[in-house]
Amino acid sequence: PLCLYAKYLQPFQLSPETLQEVSARLRKDLLRGLGKHSHHKAPVKMLPTFVRATPDGTEKGDFLALDLGGTNFRVLHVRVEEEAQKVLKMDSQICAIPQEMMLGTGEQLFDHIATCLGDFLESHNLKCQTLPLGFTFSFPCEQLEIDKSILIRWTKGFNCSGVEGKDVVQLLKEAIQRTGDYHIGSVAMVNDTVGTMMSCGYKDQSCEIGMIIGTGTNACYMEEIKNVKRIEGEDGRMCINTEWGGFGDDGSLDDILTEFDVEVDKTSINPGVHIFEKMISGMYLGEIVRLVLVKMTKDKLLFKGQISEALGTSGRFETKFISEIEDGLENAKKILTELGLDWGLVDASVVCLVCDTISSRSAYLCAAALATLVNRIRNNRKLDHLKTTVGVDGTVYRKHPTFSSKLQKAVRLLAPQCDITFLVSEDGSGKGAAMVTAVAQRLAHQSRLLEESDGEDDDDEEEEEGQ
Ligand code: BGC
Repeated sequence: PLCLYAKYLQPFQLSPETLQEVSARLRKDLLRGLGKHSHHKAPVKMLPTFVRATPDGTEKGDFLALDLGGTNFRVLHVRVEEEAQKVLKMDSQICAIPQEMMLGTGEQLFDHIATCLGDFLESHNLKCQTLPLGFTFSFPCEQLEIDKSILIRWTKGFNCSGVEGKDVVQLLKEAIQRTGDYHIGSVAMVNDTVGTMMSCGYKDQSCEIGMIIGTGTNACYMEEIKNVKRIEGEDGRMCINTEWGGFGDDGSLDDILTEFDVEVDKTSINPGVHIFEKMISGMYLGEIVRLVLVKMTKDKLLFKGQISEALGTSGRFETKFISEIEDGLENAKKILTELGLDWGLVDASVVCLVCDTISSRSAYLCAAALATLVNRIRNNRKLDHLKTTVGVDGTVYRKHPTFSSKLQKAVRLLAPQCDITFLVSEDGSGKGAAMVTAVAQRLAHQSRLLEESDGEDDDDEEEEEGQ
């Protein structure tokens, strides 16, 4: 009887050859994103981050961090200790962002952020200090400097008016000024992938990739500056925020989309945008499963043909149910009951199978994309064999019982010449943001020292010329 269900699930099952093909397409798209003229139209944006180095272990100091774009908005006070090689979270506070605010005006959102930060400083006696601040803002931004960052577009559940096309640092500073009662030091803008890479980088200095598989999905990696055509300079590396969620936005993945993916995209708040993300991340996986179950039920293959109100409501099948259901049949039964469904044993098993199929596809697609990145780094460095570390975070990766092992196994197949260590980041968006700010300060300090010593050399030369 299971073959009755196969026809619904088969379009989600991607062969190793197809995954290789996906990886090859992404490889081309990375190049388009890096190109000087092609990048404007590239679906995978390959955004420079102005992070030029991973930690070297000498960073230190106290920092503030803001984290917007994941499950919650948070304010943190972070201390980086050189002696102990540790990043310590001193205090943190979560501020809810109500749904209306996610869809309201930008001014309201930034006023809320500034107020939360102010309250935090007040309650932790930090108002009199002027601390540097790392702002983890997990949306695609065109970064012009470490502290100038233009929002390209909102993703995930956000859609505040008057922010796209604007400098987010400016909006934050203006909102802080409006509160009129505290100051902040220099600001570093950080994507969560970059924070994740940097927070793991303090522990493991070969960590050169950051990956998120949570509400959204994305990755960053260290690229040779000479390949980033829109940045001046030939030497050294820069971290590139790939924004791989946008892969497929030009139709390049249409042949692997299922009718359910098309439906999820159509009913999302940003149709046509972030197609790859919509096949992978937590914001969408539950909904894909729900649509498959609804279709099977309509075709009388599940729940005696009866769709409960919950199953019929978009968003009601949460992504966390997938993790729970795959963790055991008993969980599946409990959840199906809670969803008001009249289930039998076959129904429960089929639901497990549907969840497994859709979460596996997500893991394999991530693996294909990650394989593209590690293969690219290996080629950049003309190595036969690359050993590297990936810092990872996100609820899907962390909470799903088999996601990480499936992903890792598939990457090994797709990138056989790369030996990858996976490190789950400890609070990349908080501690990592502080780390980015700390590294930026270290580099600024080093280049000031260099300029000063260059200045001394200049004087010498002049003297010599004079003699
Ligand atoms: C955003 C990325 C972010 C990712 C993971 C995506 O929707 O565009 O900037 O890194 O979600 O949070």
